[in-house]
Amino acid sequence: MIISSSLDYREAARRRLPPFLFHYIDGGANAEQTLRRNTEDLNNLALCQRVLRSVGEIDLSTQIFGENIDMPVVLGPVGLTGMYARRGEVQAAHAAAGKGIPFTLSTVSVCSIEEVQNQVNRAIWFQLYVLKDRGFMKNVLERAWAAGVRTLVFTVDMPVPGSRYRDAHSGMSGPNASVRRLWQAITHQRWAWSVGLFGRPHDLGNVSAYLKRKIKLEDYVGWLGNNFDPSIGWHDLQWIRDYWKGAMILKGILDPRDARDAVKFGANGIVVSNHGGRQLDGVLSTVRALPAIADAVKDELTILVDSGVRSGLDVVRMLALGADAVLLGRAYIYALAADGEQGVRHLLDIIAKEMQVAMTLTGVNSISKITRDSVVSLAPGSV
Ligand code: FNR
Ligand code: LAC
Repeated sequence: MIISSSLDYREAARRRLPPFLFHYIDGGANAEQTLRRNTEDLNNLALCQRVLRSVGEIDLSTQIFGENIDMPVVLGPVGLTGMYARRGEVQAAHAAAGKGIPFTLSTVSVCSIEEVQNQVNRAIWFQLYVLKDRGFMKNVLERAWAAGVRTLVFTVDMPVPGSRYRDAHSGMSGPNASVRRLWQAITHQRWAWSVGLFGRPHDLGNVSAYLKRKIKLEDYVGWLGNNFDPSIGWHDLQWIRDYWKGAMILKGILDPRDARDAVKFGANGIVVSNHGGRQLDGVLSTVRALPAIADAVKDELTILVDSGVRSGLDVVRMLALGADAVLLGRAYIYALAADGEQGVRHLLDIIAKEMQVAMTLTGVNSISKITRDSVVSLAPGSV
């Protein structure tokens, strides 16, 4: 199959993965309105073509949280990545380090913090959930720091898991789920061989290390449901801000009022995110939410954004509306599922190339020159 974009990787991942995994990645909450809006609203944001601007060489490098990055892209936290490719978190982290960008390890990763960080020569970022078990939160923070992690992504938009209807249909959850998954594995042999058999152990590495027992995939959905806590508020979390000495980024901000609260909380940055349309269906796309949030807090916080980014053009659009950098979710996961580390490296090359074309034809040659006025055309009909 010829691969020239992240959409091709999506198709390649669909062919290779058992359906319960593909749909877990690909799906969103409820009727998937927000999932669709994220990409549609991005596509509808018109770029502003400029010609003969002597742009010359394009420089994609920038700095966030004191870290030099080769392009304004970060691999975002994605749970169960080690189920999509053999020891998938390690492979993705290698690809990110090779391309000079950060990789974020999810709390609910298959590979533990130590397994990933010990094999990769660039400090990874770690993502923490708000969980009932404070002992676990403290334990992973300690371990992350000891392993060399200095940037924490604290995800705050999952007080309850969203309603993902596809999961029940696909066999991720629902009746006879384990039998259905077994059948799907048998009928997807490349995956079954590489990940199902030789990619073990398949547990939640960070959680198992703390509980000293294996948390298996069967327990995953249940564990998530039982451990999120909707009663937690800002004041309950201040201890985490006080405890963590590195940079802290709050992920899941979609409203300027919450962005202001993030400043008061002492965050260093935010990720404007609707969790890729996986949480509250019906909320704004992030490309629509971003400008007001950037206006509210751009002087105080580093602004990251995700949800719906599928190309270098999308990265440029997000930067134009006020983001300092962008997190990739599904885009790199599709590439990883299709072709491991090599797929992610290739995808990052594709995105860099797309950014270079977009910047040349909008007349800018460095990241700091990408602005709302110069790069996007806020004409009627655009977002
Ligand atoms: C996620 N996301 C996520 N976020 C997080 O903070 N911790 C996590 O463990 C996960 N797990 C996860 C699993 C899967 C399969 C997906 C697709 C997403 C959300 C992720 O970090 C990011 O916000 C979205 O993926 C962004 O949307 P796009 O770019 O995938 O559309
Ligand atoms: C998800 C969780 C794990 O979106 O963040 O599935």
